[in-house]
Amino acid sequence: MLIRDENAADVDAIRDLTRAAFEPMPFSSNTEARIVDDLRASGDLTISLVAEEHGEVVGHVAFSPVAVDGVHGGWFGLGPISVKPDRQRQGIGKALILRGLDLLRERGAAGCALVGSPEIYGRVGFESDGRLRYADIDPKFVQRIVLRGEAPSGILKFAPAFEQ
Ligand SMILES: CC(C)(COP(=O)(O)OP(=O)(O)OC[C@H]1O[C@@H](n2cnc3c(N)ncnc32)[C@H](O)[C@@H]1OP(=O)(O)O)[C@@H](O)C(=O)NCCC(=O)NCCS
Repeated sequence: MLIRDENAADVDAIRDLTRAAFEPMPFSSNTEARIVDDLRASGDLTISLVAEEHGEVVGHVAFSPVAVDGVHGGWFGLGPISVKPDRQRQGIGKALILRGLDLLRERGAAGCALVGSPEIYGRVGFESDGRLRYADIDPKFVQRIVLRGEAPSGILKFAPAFEQ
């Protein structure tokens, strides 16, 4: 399996993959594929990695700038992330996340945040101390990895693509 930056030829495959991965999820807003497209269109798709196997895109992860209490401060958000349904729980998501975190580190990012399951993201090092908050979501789901500096405290805000 190859993990690489997306290219223009991947756009449709990423959209289809994102729809297929989120469609069965009860928590899905069915907006995730549109969010990836909007991040790309607005210049907020800081990192977009695909997992390719035998020429097929089987996984994708997006990273985009976030703010904490209105300040970017070198922080990025992880998501949407999608793995092809019949290839889930085989390490592809983890490989995408770890590569993305390496790239953020290389760029000098301060850290990465997300809203998601501690069961999944705790396995790759994300954690919550309850001080980073997002809307009325239980703070244990608002997790982060600090790459440099202080752990963030305040209200997490994602790129505008997440809010439409
Ligand atoms: C979430 C998702 C991206 C994870 O990718 P994946 O390739 O299936 O995950 P991995 O196999 O790399 O697993 C990473 C770790 O999380 C754990 N994990 C993965 N899915 C899990 C689940 N549903 N419940 C509990 N733990 C889970 C794995 O056990 C693994 O831990 P380990 O390395 O200690 O064994 C993928 O399942 C997916 O596309 N789901 C549908 C879309 C979605 O929910 N996106 C995220 C919304 S927050």
